[in-house]
Amino acid sequence: MLLHLFFLLSLFLTFIDNGTAGKTSAFVRTQFPSVDIPLENEVLAVPKGYNAPQQVHISQGDYNGKAVIITWVTADAPGSSQVRYGLSKGKYDFTAEGTLTNYTFYKYKSGYIHQCLVSGLQYDTKYYYEIGKGDSARNFWFETPPEVDPDASYKFGIIGDLGQTYNSLSTLQHYMQSGAKSVLFVGDLSYADRYQYNDVGVRWDTFGRLIEQSTAYQPWIWSAGNHEIEYFPYMGEVFPFRSFLSRYPTPYRASKSSNPLWYAIRRASAHIIVLSSYSPFVKYTPQWHWLKHELKKVNREKTPWLIVLMHVPLYNSNEAHFMEGESMRAAYERWFVKYRVDIIFAGHVHAYERSYRISNIHYNVSGGDAYPVPDKTAPIYITVGDGGNSEGLASRFRDPQPEYSAFREASYGHSTLEIKNRTHAFYHWNRNDDGNKVTTDSFTLHNQYWGSGGRRRKLNKNHLHTLILDRPSTALF
Ligand SMILES: [Fe+2]
Repeated sequence: MLLHLFFLLSLFLTFIDNGTAGKTSAFVRTQFPSVDIPLENEVLAVPKGYNAPQQVHISQGDYNGKAVIITWVTADAPGSSQVRYGLSKGKYDFTAEGTLTNYTFYKYKSGYIHQCLVSGLQYDTKYYYEIGKGDSARNFWFETPPEVDPDASYKFGIIGDLGQTYNSLSTLQHYMQSGAKSVLFVGDLSYADRYQYNDVGVRWDTFGRLIEQSTAYQPWIWSAGNHEIEYFPYMGEVFPFRSFLSRYPTPYRASKSSNPLWYAIRRASAHIIVLSSYSPFVKYTPQWHWLKHELKKVNREKTPWLIVLMHVPLYNSNEAHFMEGESMRAAYERWFVKYRVDIIFAGHVHAYERSYRISNIHYNVSGGDAYPVPDKTAPIYITVGDGGNSEGLASRFRDPQPEYSAFREASYGHSTLEIKNRTHAFYHWNRNDDGNKVTTDSFTLHNQYWGSGGRRRKLNKNHLHTLILDRPSTALF
């Protein structure tokens, strides 16, 4: 009798949810020029002074947010790798010593890359810091996150496939108006690999100078995309990710990862897992072992929000890069559902798309549903590979729009995720409308572990409802 009532209720919900079919936005942007900003433009300028630090950027330096890695480049001489820092401007009571590295790419010789771990910081505190010497010294600041706590509020930005065009600059400036405290970056940074020979290194330098206006002041959490691979046998460059790994350190050891390309951090009330779409990930590979272990470590009592970053989307209804995420979906989707990941951000496709909560984990080649079905325990998938790079937009979506796709639009933009407490977060996608920031897609995200009443939900819930609701049509947040 109870099962019968449940079945009728499910049918009723299916019926009323038919009004929430996906939407393909009709917005068509007039094309801002998708060309890289010329080298002589002032936003790419080398800072004044002999050997002045440039391309300053910071990332989280530990597992819990009490450390930052500060990275910068000096062009003329090795100089100092020291960071002087303190709690008020110009009063630097503490110092930290970093390390120096450089690399070659074809015949390009990089500047001196300084990386300095500043650790033992207090939570929720503004620090001022200085790098460089004498007249060339430069001053910045950053804020540490609140202590890891289930109700810590925090606002993240999400940016992908940024590049260094006028659209990239516009997206960056829009993001900086958002009030977000840290960027979750979903891969494809500089697009320097679209150049050849020594210009590849030159364009990594210009990218570093372009983004410094944000990255010197708040951590960007990096993941790698295909444009970081830089496998160019014709130039003698066959060591993948050489530029990225030399320039953008990650705190991978803090999460017991063996590789900087995949790792995890905890920040405020979020546990963030960064994966590499372009490293081995099938069963028994290092990334697979690490992810299996890391998911078990997630403690939703401490960090209710479980967020995964990767470059290639697992669900994508754009003609561009269609099905490229299928192999990783087959490898990991079951875990993402089992562990109730809240939201998965990806890039790669130069457009915006959001899914309903769906999963496709019953298909096993010889049987089961071979298409996604509504699944309240599944993540929401968001593709935000629309930072504004020189390759332009991916404007051809597949038609008709698949039922799992909730909203999609081919224009540039960035997202924000504003976590309020353990149960609620506000999500926005902000279109870059020819230079204007227009909030276009938004919703309230309910935590996958904590019910809206603050009661815990059980993990590993069975999927009875997905078997009864055999067609995807529901908006399940
Ligand atoms: Fe990509």
